Amino acid sequence: MVVGAQATDVDLVVIGSGPGGYVAAIRAAELGKKVTIIEKDNVGGVCLNIGCIPSKALINVGHKYQDSLKESENKTPFGLTVESPKLDWVAAQKWKDEKVVAQLTGGVGMLLKKHKVDIIKGTAEFVDNETLNVEQEDGFQLLHFQNAIIATGSRPIEIPSFPFGGRIIDSTAALSLKEIPKHLIIVGGGVIGSELGGAYRNLGAKITIIEGLDHILNGFDKEMSDIIHKRVIDAGSDVFTSAKAISAEQTDKDVTLTFEQNGETKTVTGDYLLVSVGRKPNTDLLGLNNTDVKLTDRGLIEVSDSYQSSVPHIYAIGDVVPGPMLAHKASFQAKVAAAAIAGADEAVDLHVAMPAVAYTSTELATVGETPESVKDRMDTVKISKFPFAANGRALSMDDTTGFIRLITETKEGAIIGAQIVGPGASDLISGLALAIENGLTSKDISLTIQPHPTLGEAIMDAAEVADGMPIHV
Ligand code: NAI
Repeated sequence: MVVGAQATDVDLVVIGSGPGGYVAAIRAAELGKKVTIIEKDNVGGVCLNIGCIPSKALINVGHKYQDSLKESENKTPFGLTVESPKLDWVAAQKWKDEKVVAQLTGGVGMLLKKHKVDIIKGTAEFVDNETLNVEQEDGFQLLHFQNAIIATGSRPIEIPSFPFGGRIIDSTAALSLKEIPKHLIIVGGGVIGSELGGAYRNLGAKITIIEGLDHILNGFDKEMSDIIHKRVIDAGSDVFTSAKAISAEQTDKDVTLTFEQNGETKTVTGDYLLVSVGRKPNTDLLGLNNTDVKLTDRGLIEVSDSYQSSVPHIYAIGDVVPGPMLAHKASFQAKVAAAAIAGADEAVDLHVAMPAVAYTSTELATVGETPESVKDRMDTVKISKFPFAANGRALSMDDTTGFIRLITETKEGAIIGAQIVGPGASDLISGLALAIENGLTSKDISLTIQPHPTLGEAIMDAAEVADGMPIHV
């Protein structure tokens, strides 16, 4: 930056173009704002380029490959056999990059253009409460803004004793490996470790998960995560819980992890080591120390109910503010912040039913209250369960693992929480988020006609369990 350089006046500047930033930009444009978005990489952020979307593509390839393998080994109960299936890994990666990621990010770019959002490629840094310096390939520019939305997301946490590099990889590198690992070691059995581990396990790798807590998938309860744990073990892979990674040594062929479990030191050798021990907010390289924006001690931006920071015209959304690091959380907050900036009459909803999903095999999903969160008021709530084993559609799909669990208020039967383990959990949870958000009761659900046969009927059946009048269990 050159001292004394002239700044260009802009109305609303959005920093970052992930599911927080691009949604905020489009919504603000729809509400009449002139928007400039600053992005240092590709439009779409982590989620579209190196996160949610490419991982789902690889997870899908893994499922298809497993199905074909079962068919080739004549392990399907319905007598289908195919000749030796082969996976072309280069083709699978090309499909993921060119047909899934590129198509989606291209679409977002077009939407931004359609809404006349100016896109500046560069790295933004605050100079003061009203000015940003944007470093670009061929120079820099200063922007003097009326409002700003910080949507810069997060990045993987590195373990200082074994930094990323070579065979020690983060989730980004794990999505574009040149080969399917023979043995993938995973430190951190949270959602990233379990999803990517599951994908590579389905693609033929052995996996070993080292998890510090007493169960993997910490965002879900043990009854749910135990189903995934058992599947990993049954497939010949390993899970070490209450285990702590200590050090890692790599050669050009493999990597050896030393970890501790129950006071015992153990080692495991594989060809790659994925470190997925959480993510940290991208707030440290933004020049926020040049502003009056307040951070929490974890480096998150303190915000109001409409995502205003301590500097009222600077907003922050998504992974940089407290709460779960979820793409759909960022998109929701984006719409609230854009509306607040545009002065639109949008109610700030403080009772948000925030769903979360793990795209493991099989899927886990949760929304609202959990058995853990209501454990101190069990006299006022009811927990009801319906197994997929009693659902005709699940049986016809040969996929009967899991259950639907509803948590309802005893008094009126209002649905306040739900968990799903099983086929289609990621899609089925939406209906329950809608139910919670709209204060529906179990009776409202059990009296809603569901098409037969569907997985969705299991929600109606679970509601009938809550009503005390089940038909199918
Ligand atoms: P995470 O917080 O879900 O899991 C990290 C795990 O690593 C924890 O269970 C922790 O106990 C363990 N751990 C930490 N240090 C360790 C050590 N030294 N040795 C052994 N275990 C250790 O973080 P993750 O999986 O990296 O995901 C980051 C964020 O991304 C999460 O907040 C998640 O919500 C989000 N995300 C969401 C997805 C989804 O909604 N499907 C998919 C991918 C990511």
